[in-house]
Amino acid sequence: MFKVIIKDTYDEVSKEAFKVMKAVLDEKKDAVLGLATGSTPIGLYQEMIKDHKENGTSYKDVITFNLDEYVGIPQDHRESYYTFMHKELFDYIDCPEDHIHVPYGAGEDPEADAAAYEAEIKKYQVDIQLLGIGSDGHIAFNEPGTPFDSETHVAQLAQSTIDDNCRFFDNDPSQVPTKAVTQGIATIMRAKKILLVATGANKADAVYGMLKAEKSTDCTASALQDHEDVVVILDKAAAAKVN
Ligand code: PGA
Repeated sequence: MFKVIIKDTYDEVSKEAFKVMKAVLDEKKDAVLGLATGSTPIGLYQEMIKDHKENGTSYKDVITFNLDEYVGIPQDHRESYYTFMHKELFDYIDCPEDHIHVPYGAGEDPEADAAAYEAEIKKYQVDIQLLGIGSDGHIAFNEPGTPFDSETHVAQLAQSTIDDNCRFFDNDPSQVPTKAVTQGIATIMRAKKILLVATGANKADAVYGMLKAEKSTDCTASALQDHEDVVVILDKAAAAKVN
């Protein structure tokens, strides 16, 4: 079931998302957080850092699982999702390094690393899974056509995703990795609660596909129609086709 909240600005979207995240943390100090990369969650991460500094909210007992990681770049690459998460969040809160899980995409056998990640996350239930949405309707790197029963696997990035992400790679699509280790749709769907944030007009079609179109792997986010607790926070531009 979707609860859709529409805000005027990115800042308000981030603050609203923080309220949802904080309610989970307040209820359970050893919460399992599913975290996401991308531009959209950065405002939420800034709110979490500010709250940690000002109010002392602790992440000492929190466990985190990230959604995905590029294959073919080293873990310490400036654009790896491991680096992103440390730079945008983990370096500023007190979550112990050994509580942090980011899929490993730099190994000899990414398929085996994907399977190991799935086995690890299966030992837990994610209390809240944060998601962005791709302009092609993907959640994590589950591109159009990915089956709804997929678990953590090695995915081929869609050309539209490579084009979207080349802004981080000197605007050069040839530098963007073409594969990633990603949680599957079934992995994501096991989370108790989902928090999806989307802003900007380039997300409006994907948001429509998720909320209003018939469920289909053409827009993998539409799988969330079957989840019982999904909070979707949008700005007006992203909500333009569903209002
Ligand atoms: P973005 O990415 O937040 O950078 O737009 C979202 C996504 O691709 O999931």
